Amino acid sequence: MHNDISEILVTEKEIADICIRLGSQLTKDYKDKNPILIGLLKGCMPFMSDLSRKIDLKFDMAYMSVSSYHGGIASSGDVKIKMDLDISIKGRDVLIIEDIVDTANTIVTIVELFKHRGANSVKMVTLLDKPEGRLRPYQPEYVGKVIPKAFVVGYGLDYDEYYRNLPYVGVLKPEVYNHE
Ligand code: PRP
Repeated sequence: MHNDISEILVTEKEIADICIRLGSQLTKDYKDKNPILIGLLKGCMPFMSDLSRKIDLKFDMAYMSVSSYHGGIASSGDVKIKMDLDISIKGRDVLIIEDIVDTANTIVTIVELFKHRGANSVKMVTLLDKPEGRLRPYQPEYVGKVIPKAFVVGYGLDYDEYYRNLPYVGVLKPEVYNHE
């Protein structure tokens, strides 16, 4: 698995530091609120797990499964809800937790949906931001690290469902996906 990676972009230590930094910022910013953390599966999983334990507040957590990549390396632009929330977000302060913002097709669609459902506020926490990939304007409120335009995997991010369990974020060697 590690042999398929050409370069490590975010190390385990950097990820741990990002969780501490963002966790302490969110602890301050949401101290008088009762936020709900909503993870967009599947990519959010490791980040939501590590980040949530660095936020020193009472909050609830929920999950939604959305997908726009359908197995390839490029966003289809068609955001599908595969599993919806099991709670109401009406009047709630929502924090969406993501592994990456690339084209922003996913996050723009979900923010619009949550506002339509009556959330009091909707903000986003993303481990990675790839601004060069944008097809729609969007600036996440909380960003772990800005990365260049490369196909990255690990720490939740997949290629064809593999590599999510890498403990770091790395660039996938093009020969791994160029045979498609
Ligand atoms: C990935 C990632 C984000 C989205 C970001 O999800 O987790 O949800 O793509 O890309 P965008 O800004 O171009 O929309 P994916 O659809 O691959 O599903 P997954 O989380 O199950 O891997």
